Amino acid sequence: MRLTDQAHALIANVFKAGETAIDATAGNGHDTRFLCQLAGPSGKVFAIDIQQQALDQTAAMLLNFEYKNYELICGDHQLLTELIPSEHRCRISAVMFNLGYLPGGDHLQITRETSTLSAIEAALALIRPGGIITILAYPGHPGGAAETRAVSSLLDQLEATQFKAQRIYSHSDSTKAPRLFAVTRLE
Ligand SMILES: C[S@@+](CC[C@H](N)C(=O)[O-])C[C@H]1O[C@@H](n2cnc3c(N)ncnc32)[C@H](O)[C@@H]1O
Repeated sequence: MRLTDQAHALIANVFKAGETAIDATAGNGHDTRFLCQLAGPSGKVFAIDIQQQALDQTAAMLLNFEYKNYELICGDHQLLTELIPSEHRCRISAVMFNLGYLPGGDHLQITRETSTLSAIEAALALIRPGGIITILAYPGHPGGAAETRAVSSLLDQLEATQFKAQRIYSHSDSTKAPRLFAVTRLE
């Protein structure tokens, strides 16, 4: 199974209809669409991207469906706490990060170690007990190896009585192969 599919499988185990999720890197909208489908009409998805171009592509893609359960937010995910209304604190069921750059877009608009760590820390404070964060990281991108190591190290430092961290490697032995991280807040 591809790591993107594994991330979706982990999310689907936790995120149920009527709940709220965040796509912290909307990109072309594939993860947002997946989350909208799970959320159902009574749920909600916040999709964030630093590039308006990505949100335009996400909006265009979602037009093919009849979802009305999402909100697109243009901003830096390191400001997640400010971007998401405060009533959602500790009530978010799932947060997805798919790091790197927009496929087909500007490769200089890439996720960066410092802001990624701040965003994950903010996401940790937003998820409910039992909630999950998935982070798909790409060590082969410029800066991606350091970013992937930093994410791994952040997960090492999590309080084991509060969070469970998982690392899922792709089948390739290459050091440049993508990595999937998942963090669950214990109930
Ligand atoms: C690999 S793409 C995401 C793919 C997307 N999840 C999908 O399903 O199509 C990474 C996205 O992260 C966005 N990004 C980069 N830095 C960001 C930041 N600091 N805050 C929010 N989004 C950022 C990029 O603009 C890009 O669209």
